[in-house]
Amino acid sequence: MTRNLPAAPQPAAFPGARDAAGTAAGRRLVVVGSGIAGLYAALLAADAGAEAVLVSKGGLEESNTWYAQGGISAVLPAPAPGDTVAAHIADTLRAGAGHCNSAAVTLMCAEARQDIAGLRRFGVVFDAGHDGGPALGLEAAHSAPRILHAGGDATGARVAEALIRSVLAAQAEGKLTVLTNSHATALVRERGRVTGVEYLRGGRAERIGGDAVLLATGGAGQLFAQTTNPAVATADGLALAVRAGAAVADLEFFQFHPTCFVDTAAGSRAALSGPLLISEAVRGEGAILVDAGGRRFMRAYHPDAELAPRDVVSRSIALHLAKLGDPNGHVYLDARPIGEARGAGFLERRFPTLTRKTRDAGIDWTREPVPVAPAAHYWMGGITTDLSARTTVPGLYAAGEVACTGVQGANRLASNSLLEGLVFGRRAVEDFLSGSSALWSLGWVAPDSAPPHASSAAGGLPLTHASGAPSVAERGSALGAAMGNQTAAGVDSFHGSPQASFGGGEYVEPFSRDALRRLMTSHAGVLRSGELLAEAAETLNRWAAVVLPDNSVPLERDPSVHEDRNLLLAAQLLVSAALRRRDPLGAHYRADEPAKTSATIPLRPKASILHD
Ligand code: FAD
Ligand code: SIN
Repeated sequence: MTRNLPAAPQPAAFPGARDAAGTAAGRRLVVVGSGIAGLYAALLAADAGAEAVLVSKGGLEESNTWYAQGGISAVLPAPAPGDTVAAHIADTLRAGAGHCNSAAVTLMCAEARQDIAGLRRFGVVFDAGHDGGPALGLEAAHSAPRILHAGGDATGARVAEALIRSVLAAQAEGKLTVLTNSHATALVRERGRVTGVEYLRGGRAERIGGDAVLLATGGAGQLFAQTTNPAVATADGLALAVRAGAAVADLEFFQFHPTCFVDTAAGSRAALSGPLLISEAVRGEGAILVDAGGRRFMRAYHPDAELAPRDVVSRSIALHLAKLGDPNGHVYLDARPIGEARGAGFLERRFPTLTRKTRDAGIDWTREPVPVAPAAHYWMGGITTDLSARTTVPGLYAAGEVACTGVQGANRLASNSLLEGLVFGRRAVEDFLSGSSALWSLGWVAPDSAPPHASSAAGGLPLTHASGAPSVAERGSALGAAMGNQTAAGVDSFHGSPQASFGGGEYVEPFSRDALRRLMTSHAGVLRSGELLAEAAETLNRWAAVVLPDNSVPLERDPSVHEDRNLLLAAQLLVSAALRRRDPLGAHYRADEPAKTSATIPLRPKASILHD
């Protein structure tokens, strides 16, 4: 991290620090990951007098957090008229499709204001409204404007910058140690307890010990060919935790953001440097979705139209494209109604980064609609944690996207992810400072044993056999029966990947990260079926039998080899969980479930959202 950052403000003492002064001193917390969860937790631990070590595989700013746009949801002491914490809880539960852990949701929504204040202590400044209070944005499935943002649509970068500035200041004061370009490859365990991390730095294998480890390694968008996530999102933390015996949950639920920019002019000029998400906040301000014929279609799929929950909007786009047999594989986000309603210049002021980036991509969104399609965005599932961010393995905490507290259910409510990282990152530190290890000392999990959770996707099985995939003969043609053979072909081709090379046949394309990502998009993406998932499981298992037969930690000193293995393991676990859940729920849509599917949609071969 070499950006020029101004001096950090002096934070007031973190509330948990008062009680911790005695227990924190001399105890080391190793935090892996420098997104919002890791940065904030490391700062709080250091603030309380613990020895905090922050390990990150790239620069400190390389994270999903950096790219967050819309903002952070929170009901503050002075909320929008009529808004309440109870409403935030209700919205979160509703978006989560009835699959949330309501205790975790209640806690997160109630404690949000505490951690917004915590962010401010570390120098984060949110955009102000006309009255001088924070400007509150509206996003899909929120019943009131309650999204705090910074720099308009640059919330993640502004938050991360401020936290990084504070981290560097704490390091300069000797309160915190930062290890960048340090790629965690394994958790060290002694007598059933996690006692440190192995990592690669400059081609050398290193190890750091600690009294506890907090995994804050983020998500796994790189599992899919189209993603909003940056390159660092490779499921590392999840894989490390699974290899250490931790329980995982809800892995079938992967959220696809409806509006990722589709670069239709790529090839005729320099492509964008990375994916470009068009924030949900743009729909919150009044942008609408239209198809290639200029028709607004979302009202036909959900009464809340563009502001329906994210899984509904992504799925509706996919189904609508399939219904039309649209060969372009994308729809359009029309932001012009915002200018018409709010006046010229509003769009540029409210969304300066998006205005610049779409312009760089050759689109003037004040005058023309923007081509968009769903892309892999956020993993609701992850390492099973309790309300104090404790995993089932002693000495191991997890917070942020890598964890599964259950707050996100089967479909995350917009802008609840940064909040989850804050609240549960803090709670991990509080638990560490309290010296408590209640969960594991109460025998919630037996050290060195398979995780007891029924929801564990790994379930203690050898991973090459964990898929639960039916044999080829067992595979029903339910998808074909429900949607017709043309439809079955259409689902695959909707995702734009040639099926012939994956599963079922004698020839399986050799393993590579690209092949994995194409397989996951075509077989385990927005629209799924038992048949496609079974094929995916078969191909993944064949790859795993060659690439990681015993699921051990690779010996290679090349971090990308570790990432590849982690992605393969995560893909196996995701597909395994998706196969087991036959009913569609939230972001997990099984097109072969007759009761819940639109049986008459004529999918056509060229309806592809992929531009491989
Ligand atoms: P991350 O921010 O992803 O950080 C993970 C860190 O772990 C990184 O520093 C990474 O380098 C490090 N790491 C990973 N593996 C290793 C390893 N093996 N060794 C060492 N370090 C490792 N959510 C919202 O709430 N509001 C939004 O407006 C919003 N907008 C978004 C926009 C985009 C484009 C994207 C991609 C996501 C958005 N999200 C948003 C989701 C949100 O940004 C993420 O879920 C959240 O930032 C995750 O934070 P985190 O701290 O858990 O992980
Ligand atoms: C967005 O700005 O649309 C992303 C918000 C989120 O992922 O919560």
